[in-house]
Amino acid sequence: MDITPTTESPLHAKVVNIDLKAELSPAERAQIEMALATYGVLSFPGQDLTAAQFKRFCENFGELELNVANSRHEPGMPEMMLLSNIIENGTPIGMADAGQGWHTDLSYNKVIGYATILYGIEIPQRDGRTLGQTQFCNMQAAYEDLPADIKAELQGMTVLHDFDKFWEMMRQKGSPRPPLSAEQRKARPPSSHPVFMQHPISGEKVLYANPGYAVRINELSPADSDRMLDFLFKHQTQEKYKYSHAWSVGDVLMWDDIATIHNAVADYLPTERRLLKRCQVTASRFFN
Ligand code: SIN
Repeated sequence: MDITPTTESPLHAKVVNIDLKAELSPAERAQIEMALATYGVLSFPGQDLTAAQFKRFCENFGELELNVANSRHEPGMPEMMLLSNIIENGTPIGMADAGQGWHTDLSYNKVIGYATILYGIEIPQRDGRTLGQTQFCNMQAAYEDLPADIKAELQGMTVLHDFDKFWEMMRQKGSPRPPLSAEQRKARPPSSHPVFMQHPISGEKVLYANPGYAVRINELSPADSDRMLDFLFKHQTQEKYKYSHAWSVGDVLMWDDIATIHNAVADYLPTERRLLKRCQVTASRFFN
């Protein structure tokens, strides 16, 4: 396996000479986890996997999440969500607008997310340009760059994350998704996490807040919390922290959900087909 960083700041490396169909050895698994902690986003181009092979690869890294709002998944595999704008016989085959806004997967859970892994099946192109890119920002760099007084003020504080925040934001933007049911809300109650987290593999400190789910800094007054979150959201989404992944069919893309935030760019039409398969790996190996 050869791992080559492609960005100046450590936010993407390409991994080649590995066939993800094959069982990973413990050494290969450790090498991938170290690369993920170092670079944040890894792409494995040119893979050719069945759904079962893709799932087995994802299971190498921990327990897979069952999304409470996921009615569109790979047949027989509720852990593998289908992200797609394709409609077949009048029925959408996947969720069309998942992740279209900056967020961190599973930050609303008591046990947060460790990694998300996507597999590109159909990718829209227009005039030679790849549409539907996935963007990332580097939360280790964002932490390091925070002004010293903000670091001191927020040290030891916690942020409340709520699944419903992103869901409602999408509905307000016109998403056809219905409101979360009382049962879904109960299954995913809001959770609090430290605003600065130590990454369990790299040991580095990261800023753990995101515009999609963070609703309140618990230790501040509501007005001060709103002001601080507004500042953090602007700070963490600056261009200098960004990497945009232009998909190719056959890419497996794996990202670290502790040290990055991400955004799915909605720049393609309903007729420009996009289909990705997604598994989310929880951090239950590291936190409980
Ligand atoms: C996600 O947020 O998991 C979706 C990413 C994408 O569709 O590009």
